[in-house]
Amino acid sequence: MKRRTFAKLLGLGTGPFGLWQTAGGTQKTESVAGAGPTIPPPLPPTRFPINVLEYEALARGSLPRPNFDYLSTGSEDEVTLRDNLEAFGRIRLLPPVLHGIGHCDLSTTVLGEPVSIPVMLAPVVTQGLFHPEGELASARAAASHGTVFGVSTGSTYTVEDIAAAGKGPLWFQLYFRRDREVTRGLLQRVEQAGFKTVVLTVDRDGRKEQDMRNRFTLPQRMLYRVMQQIGHDLPEKMSNEELYKFANSARDPGLTWEIFDWLRSVTRLPLLAKGIVSPSDARKAVSAGLDGIIVSNHGGRALDGMPATIDALEEIVRTVDGRLKVFMDGGFRRGRDVLKALALGARAVLIGRPYAWGLATAGEAGVHRVLEIFREEVQNALVTCACARISDVHKDLLLRG
Ligand code: FNR
Repeated sequence: MKRRTFAKLLGLGTGPFGLWQTAGGTQKTESVAGAGPTIPPPLPPTRFPINVLEYEALARGSLPRPNFDYLSTGSEDEVTLRDNLEAFGRIRLLPPVLHGIGHCDLSTTVLGEPVSIPVMLAPVVTQGLFHPEGELASARAAASHGTVFGVSTGSTYTVEDIAAAGKGPLWFQLYFRRDREVTRGLLQRVEQAGFKTVVLTVDRDGRKEQDMRNRFTLPQRMLYRVMQQIGHDLPEKMSNEELYKFANSARDPGLTWEIFDWLRSVTRLPLLAKGIVSPSDARKAVSAGLDGIIVSNHGGRALDGMPATIDALEEIVRTVDGRLKVFMDGGFRRGRDVLKALALGARAVLIGRPYAWGLATAGEAGVHRVLEIFREEVQNALVTCACARISDVHKDLLLRG
């Protein structure tokens, strides 16, 4: 058997990031005179996964099952979770050829803040469930990529510690507290810590059946710490039941659009609403004077049956007509997905599970690599589509069913 065919069968030498390649380059097969090619010894896998879904597999192997399920599953039948991903597949690309473009500048601005890539980290709650360094690791990785980290109200570290860990731009995601003084105090700390934007999440949690099956709850000590860090004044001793009851009732479920007037009176930071999927709500966001919205169905974790966000995006962009900035999250697993969202009018996008899989696998290095993969793939997609800069991306690159 020819040496090349043999190597191919073993999956060797499949390019610069071939899965079965040593860090030092492709391994040579030695031939002993007269004995034909020897079978090369098994090679260690490359140090870095080459795409985001490999991180999902690695995270599955490194997390306790209930934690992995909490991170990765969606609500009820997971129709929306699946659709978020599948809807990207229904949009095909029409790259022009012979265009002479060899590089794309991926930098852009979000609400006046420069970022080096139009991919940001979405708020993901209690990241201590996935890695001991949790949000600190994510903040550092986002900062080293020059992009935004969206910090959840339910973080395992304080906003001050997170701001000290990563010097990149931070957005604060707010789950509004029933106790307005707690919310006010929290927003004051956020502003003092140098956060750039406040994002109010306006969608509601869905029923995550796999978590029910697993009887998944946050560890009591972690939940107590999270509640304290938010600013809730808790008695020193609380039973498990009291703590969970308190946590469940601390969020305010009775908000209306007027809440943004109150928020404006409390913070000078730009305000976004996260969780918009309908043009009529996008119109209300314009009327409320918001700086932007995030088109989001909470990654398929809110009410099941909502549309895929990439399907909702175009009409929303048309409705707001440039009066506020439109961001989007949900289902981004590939750089080409990012191109599709930019072409349909998103200013930039956010990823949730992908970077949390990276965090679970390798802490800061894992989050860093996930962003690097997106950077490589977005660069490849945009250059192939003749875009030398983000503003060159346009709808004619898309073919829709
Ligand atoms: C989330 N998301 C979320 N959103 C939010 O506003 N506040 C939060 O605390 C959380 N927490 C959270 C935890 C976990 C485990 C996940 C997976 C998601 C939603 C998140 O910000 C984002 O909308 C989705 O994750 C985007 O979908 P993908 O990228 O995960 O497909």
